[in-house]
Amino acid sequence: MLNTKTTASPTAPLDEKHLAVLATLQVKLASLGVEGHFLPFVSEGPVVTLYRFVPQNATRVSLVERVAPDLAIALGAECVQVKRLPGEMAVGIYVPNKEKKHILFRDSVGHVWDAFNNKKQRIPLLFGIDHMGNFVVEDLPLLPHLLIAGATGSGKSTFLNSILAGLIYCVPPGRLKLVLSDVKQVEFTNFVGAPHLMFPVSTSIHETLEQMEWLIDEVNRRLTVLAKASCQNILQYNALETRSALPYILFVIDELAEILMDKSNEEQEIPDGKGGTKIKLLSRGKLAEHRLGLIAQKARATGVHIIAATQRPSVKVVEGNIKANFPARVSFRLPSEADSRTILNTSGAEQLLSQGDMLFVSPNSPAIRRLHAPLASIEDIRAAVDVACRR
Ligand SMILES: Nc1ncnc2c1ncn2[C@@H]1O[C@H](COP(=O)(O)OP(=O)(O)OP(=O)(O)O)[C@@H](O)[C@H]1O
Ligand SMILES: [Mg+2]
Repeated sequence: MLNTKTTASPTAPLDEKHLAVLATLQVKLASLGVEGHFLPFVSEGPVVTLYRFVPQNATRVSLVERVAPDLAIALGAECVQVKRLPGEMAVGIYVPNKEKKHILFRDSVGHVWDAFNNKKQRIPLLFGIDHMGNFVVEDLPLLPHLLIAGATGSGKSTFLNSILAGLIYCVPPGRLKLVLSDVKQVEFTNFVGAPHLMFPVSTSIHETLEQMEWLIDEVNRRLTVLAKASCQNILQYNALETRSALPYILFVIDELAEILMDKSNEEQEIPDGKGGTKIKLLSRGKLAEHRLGLIAQKARATGVHIIAATQRPSVKVVEGNIKANFPARVSFRLPSEADSRTILNTSGAEQLLSQGDMLFVSPNSPAIRRLHAPLASIEDIRAAVDVACRR
């Protein structure tokens, strides 16, 4: 991959290399009985180039989608994705560029700054850049929790790191607190010393369970504070001039599956029905699922939000309680179409490239967006932490 400044052209005329790709696509589609024509322009993003194919009258979009693997073979490409383009009369054929460009954090962080300072987003998350060259930054409280899935090495931790670096750089610690869980122990080491951290980064399941317990208490405490002030949510409360504002709290878990699948037992105090409590043994995985569900259900109004990443998108891990409470989802490359359906309710994630190539579905936008995540280096993260400490 090249390390160059991010460029993307919304639509550009076809040059020689595009014409060669088009010729191959045209021949292959015709040989497979897929009839239609290409529009005479492309959108060349940093990682993939989008060709627009208009199917002939009787040609179904699903037919074009189904031949994606054949197109990849014809082009000798790692993967080709075919998706309908919402609002356009064409089907998008996404072909990986021979030379892919990294989306650099330092070229993207200005968009987070702008979202926080000018657009008044509260927890601006930098998702990435689309094929038209647009940077996508969304306000987490509107989502209000985010679930991330992706095979190993697809870019989950890198994405979390660049999101966190952007927040630490742009949002003052008085406005946002972070609670971080990293049972792999190596992903969030560069955030040590950031003034936003409520606690040291949790590196064990036991510590993460303690963080969850603290968060449940905090959510309940905040609900009481809001009720006493006759406010429905943190937005109304923070608008009151007579009280000091409550900071938002973001709970980030890298490797959720590892926690939810843990079968070892933890002692749990539960009510005994006679006004006292008794000790019950519960698997840590079940306990974590229960606590996470409680936080996710009640936290929205109180300004507490969750981002959780999982390598295993199996139905067992994310179905039910978890999925219902996380309407916003990001999927990096996944091994199979079935995995893609578990996370996104549609296929497509199995056709992504690795290294930060993602599909993003948000409750605020009907279309699934293909984006490329930024890459924050260790120096970028340390610089963000240093700036936050000095401020
Ligand atoms: N947005 C990106 N741009 C460029 N390279 C990336 C990007 N995201 C990830 N990579 C590359 O891919 C490698 C693996 O990424 P990462 O560690 O984030 O994967 P992961 O999904 O967290 O994997 P695991 O499940 O094993 O923890 C990184 O070390 C980096 O080299
Ligand atoms: Mg990881």
